[in-house]
Amino acid sequence: MALSRPELESQIDNNNLKQSDSNLLFLDGQAHERLRNIISRVLPSWRAAAESSSQFIDRLIGRLPDDCRLDIVGDFAEPIAEDAMRTIVGLPQGEDDRMAPLLTEMSAQFDPSCAGDVMMSSVRAGQQVLSHIRLAFRQKSYASGSVLDLLNQARLEGELSIREMLASSVMLAHASFQNSANLLSFAAVETMTNLEVFEVITSGTPSEQRNCIEELVRLGSPVSFLIRRAEAALTIGTTSIDRSDIVIPCIGQANRDPAVFKDPDQFDALRDRTAHLAFGAGPHACLGAAIARAETLAAVSALAGRYRTLTLESVTWGSNAIMHGPTSLRVRLVT
Ligand code: HEM
Repeated sequence: MALSRPELESQIDNNNLKQSDSNLLFLDGQAHERLRNIISRVLPSWRAAAESSSQFIDRLIGRLPDDCRLDIVGDFAEPIAEDAMRTIVGLPQGEDDRMAPLLTEMSAQFDPSCAGDVMMSSVRAGQQVLSHIRLAFRQKSYASGSVLDLLNQARLEGELSIREMLASSVMLAHASFQNSANLLSFAAVETMTNLEVFEVITSGTPSEQRNCIEELVRLGSPVSFLIRRAEAALTIGTTSIDRSDIVIPCIGQANRDPAVFKDPDQFDALRDRTAHLAFGAGPHACLGAAIARAETLAAVSALAGRYRTLTLESVTWGSNAIMHGPTSLRVRLVT
């Protein structure tokens, strides 16, 4: 499988994305393993993250009227993803200045097809996210036991540099926000408009609900493709790849491959084969997958527990080719 081949490296130069040598997404080999071990150690357990998310989701849904019009992206998915991001990283909650727009704008940096001016704004947005994190670090306003707190302890013990600590915190803020926001948007609409999903989420067993979330992740696939470069010639299946070739594993398409998934575009809560690539695979496989699954289940359970119908009124799609998702999903919800 391509994503597990050591010849495919993550540090690529696409003349667009400025890849930090302190960000584990773009590191390989021992340097990657060292940072990955630290980051996996400082992330909260999925249970702790889900508990905190559930409290926020209950408050958010509790404030909504019985019959309301709202934007599933801006009023539901993004606030939930931002709250989870703040809890994970340790940034103070309930600030007036929302970080969601900055984190969304930052995503353009990952899209090699984005235009120069969009890239400039995206880099500036990333710098503003860094400023928020640096301020919390300087003022020691981060929560005890959070990523910032634990990374700082690791730094004081000489395990990582201050640059790596800040880059990892920005990376985690973005990783825990953007893909989750896209998945939550998709999962919310699918749960409320597909009776099979609605029934499993409202009255299925825990195991049926877990399969259902996995199927939602497969179908939603918030990351369309990844980018790698061959540091040595290799063959994958019948395809020969030369040294320095760029390789693009299209994980979104692979998740709808008819040779692997029967009726791949259909939601099937009883699907035998649930293994998919939405969280990547190999050395860079997502470290937040369990958190994302638990957060999604908490969000769709609360929504389907409160409302019976969702009518989709309009959709606006974003332009990001990699982190593909809607920028607005206007709906009417009725209990
Ligand atoms: C639906 C939500 C999510 C999706 C679809 C997703 C998807 C992915 C994918 C595809 C990768 C692999 C990138 C690559 O191979 O280049 C990845 C990496 C990563 N994700 Fe997620 N992610 C999600 C949520 C999260 C959350 C909530 C966190 C943190 C709490 C997180 C943390 C990470 C980290 C740290 C990596 C880098 C791992 C490495 O490079 O070793 N992700 N994610």
